[in-house]
Amino acid sequence: MPWDDMAPPPFAMLDDPLAYILAAHLRQRAVCAVLRRFATEQSAGRTEADRLTAYLTGDLRLHHEDEDLDLYPVLRRRALPADGLGVTLARLGEEHRHGAAMADMIVEILSAKPADATVNIEVAAGEAMQAYAASEMRHLALENGVVLALARIRLTRPDLKAISRGMKQRRGVVTHDQP
Ligand SMILES: [Fe+2]
Ligand SMILES: [Fe+2]
Repeated sequence: MPWDDMAPPPFAMLDDPLAYILAAHLRQRAVCAVLRRFATEQSAGRTEADRLTAYLTGDLRLHHEDEDLDLYPVLRRRALPADGLGVTLARLGEEHRHGAAMADMIVEILSAKPADATVNIEVAAGEAMQAYAASEMRHLALENGVVLALARIRLTRPDLKAISRGMKQRRGVVTHDQP
């Protein structure tokens, strides 16, 4: 997977929060592909390792906050009982916490010896990366296929505006909303 796929979505896309979240998911898939390659090759180059570490400790956390603090709460209010979203959102929120713990472990592996040009990935570390990538891919499939699909149907224009505002504030992007 080329590194271009690792670039963050442009801030202009924050006006369409569901499109931004979908783009963030594509980026997450690219990250999973890189982690799987690290595991297969049992090594990681310093530049890629550092970019991955920066992503796992930076933008990925922002993405989880976008969902936990903005998207999920609004969607919880709008979803109909028949949507059965309550259990799904609770599970996804739990996976964020569990995934964060796994990501912290991966960051520790990748940043243990910052002066080394290559990070040696031990078998157990590679297995942890594969397991993390697999669980993230399942998580992404559920979010794209169920959560975002329902969000497109259930959320109102003001809902989307509120989500967009929260995501911009989180990134220090100035909004020019009309009063
Ligand atoms: Fe997500
Ligand atoms: Fe998520």
